[in-house]
Amino acid sequence: MDERKITAQRLREMKQRGEKIVALTAYDFFTAKIMDEVGIDLILVGDSVGMAVLGYENTVPVTLDEMLHHTRAVARARPRSLLVGDLPFMTYSTVERALESAGKLVQAGAEAVKIEGGETVVEQVVALAKTIPVLGHVGLLPQSILETGGYKVQGRTPASAAQLLRDAQALEAAGAFAVVIECTVAEVARQITGALRIPTIGIGAGNGCDGQILVSNDMLGQFTWFTPKHVKRYANLAEEMRKAFAAYKHEVETGQFPGKEQSF
Ligand code: KIV
Repeated sequence: MDERKITAQRLREMKQRGEKIVALTAYDFFTAKIMDEVGIDLILVGDSVGMAVLGYENTVPVTLDEMLHHTRAVARARPRSLLVGDLPFMTYSTVERALESAGKLVQAGAEAVKIEGGETVVEQVVALAKTIPVLGHVGLLPQSILETGGYKVQGRTPASAAQLLRDAQALEAAGAFAVVIECTVAEVARQITGALRIPTIGIGAGNGCDGQILVSNDMLGQFTWFTPKHVKRYANLAEEMRKAFAAYKHEVETGQFPGKEQSF
């Protein structure tokens, strides 16, 4: 494995070489360590932490302080992967707020920040990208759920597909180093990918993107109460945890634990 640190520039070079970018979310030190060991290119401390870890119903309640806490934990793993911190709801509503919030994420250890939106956040991206690598995010925008009224697949109409392309191109022109495309018709995501020089990273956007990202708790089968269609389960950790907790309970209740081996 190439041991060099992954940078925004290296991700752009991967697109030029036709190499797929592999990304996952992480919210804690040990998960980030394991991801780094297997060579994940990009680790996102996503505001999905709100649902995956903190028990919120959606990402809207996630605060910058919560993002800073989890970003610091992941940064302590000192990953070779590019570490991206997510700007949570309303922390980039103006250019000034965006600069202040992103500055805090970087001081907590993020090497780039992610921002939701296309043409509507161009001013923020231009200002941020002068000093901080910016990952854009188009398609389904979870932070806009109050306005959109639900998690709907994007790009189903010609007008929506054309807007998505304009959004992605606006982010590229504003200086974003890559763009996440979430829950978008696969063919639309493929066309956007072909139209951009910067990489696209898909989640529920088909296999025509330059890379893929998943919420790690979903793909590990840790969050089993709802599984979105785009998620493939690579493990069943919730079941393993259930088995382990039940076995421990049984052994404590029946006096089998601790045994001689665990006693002094
Ligand atoms: O917060 C998050 O995990 C994300 C991914 C879905 C891309 O934004």
